[in-house]
Amino acid sequence: MKVLITGGAGFIGSTIASACLDAGHEVVILDDFSAGRREFVLDRPLVEGDIGDRELLDRTFAEHKPDAVVHCAAKIIVPESVEQPLSYYENNVAKTVTLLQAMDAAGINRLLFSSSASIYATEANFQVTEDSGLAPNSPYATTKYMMEIVLRDTAAATDIRVMSLRYFNPIGADPQMRTGLQIAKPTHVLGKMLEAWLNKDTFTVTGVDWPTRDGSGIRDYIHVWDLAKAHVAALENFDQVTSAENPYQVINIGTGKGSTVKELVQAFEDATGEPLRTVDGPSRPGDVAGAYTVSTRAKDLLGWQTELTEAQAIKDAIQWLDIRRERLGY
Ligand SMILES: NC(=O)c1ccc[n+]([C@@H]2O[C@H](COP(=O)([O-])OP(=O)(O)OC[C@H]3O[C@@H](n4cnc5c(N)ncnc54)[C@H](O)[C@@H]3O)[C@@H](O)[C@H]2O)c1
Repeated sequence: MKVLITGGAGFIGSTIASACLDAGHEVVILDDFSAGRREFVLDRPLVEGDIGDRELLDRTFAEHKPDAVVHCAAKIIVPESVEQPLSYYENNVAKTVTLLQAMDAAGINRLLFSSSASIYATEANFQVTEDSGLAPNSPYATTKYMMEIVLRDTAAATDIRVMSLRYFNPIGADPQMRTGLQIAKPTHVLGKMLEAWLNKDTFTVTGVDWPTRDGSGIRDYIHVWDLAKAHVAALENFDQVTSAENPYQVINIGTGKGSTVKELVQAFEDATGEPLRTVDGPSRPGDVAGAYTVSTRAKDLLGWQTELTEAQAIKDAIQWLDIRRERLGY
């Protein structure tokens, strides 16, 4: 299968590209490098540009004729989305509408969408399935929620069939170290831990008053390689899982296990063999208590489940730091 990956020079898109290539598929990367890295394109065919550029999309679809699109391109920083909501709605919603129009015009009708578990409403026990309530709590999460509605309606009215994959919390790096997290100062929790550990600094647990077992936020940390392989399974099962009668599917992609931030600190200390200095702090704008999936839909429909542990993801993230310094210079 030939797969066009928007945002394929970013953390997750580049890992998906590696997983697709390892499984024998062809990839084409489309990225504007607003957050992605040229180094992450490696020797993969590249279209440099914006998903909102209709002419570029028309040319790209005519030239490469992909069988499917994996749509990872988005702005992803929650606090930034609180400050600049319009740029998030423009990039993540309006430009995705352009992408859909171009796909429809070109007759490209398989789409995997990078959705997010951040759209779930908080459940008393933090456990969610695809049928749980939704209550996006930031402009970023709202862009994912809005796009799911747009995609559902588009799938109902056109030949485009869609799987919205609701990612939980990807951490780690490609185990072969082809790519990993590119940002030097990531806003997500493991990135903050790594930064504190590297700089011999203090890690702030942002939010300690959540109604979780220890007050810190709870998340479902999934190894990014497992997440990438879920896309391969989704692509390979696309025509069995979606149909004209059932053109839109939502699937949670997580481990099924919830870890609190404080538990992740413990796992981090186990991985490094060193204590991590921590301090309790307030939650950040747009933060939520969190969730983990208890759905079996990914296993039932895609035959996919996670294989790698949280400990392995932490180790791979640490190993990636040296590679990143070598390859990206920071
Ligand atoms: N990282 C997470 O924790 C997480 C969790 C759930 C969902 N997601 C979703 O997964 C997807 C990938 O996230 P990531 O962590 O790899 O982020 P990332 O920032 O590393 O990758 C996004 C990529 O998209 C590109 N991009 C952004 N806007 C573009 C545009 N208009 N045209 C072309 N390229 C554009 C960026 O240059 C970047 O390479 C996003 O859609 C994100 O919302 C991420």
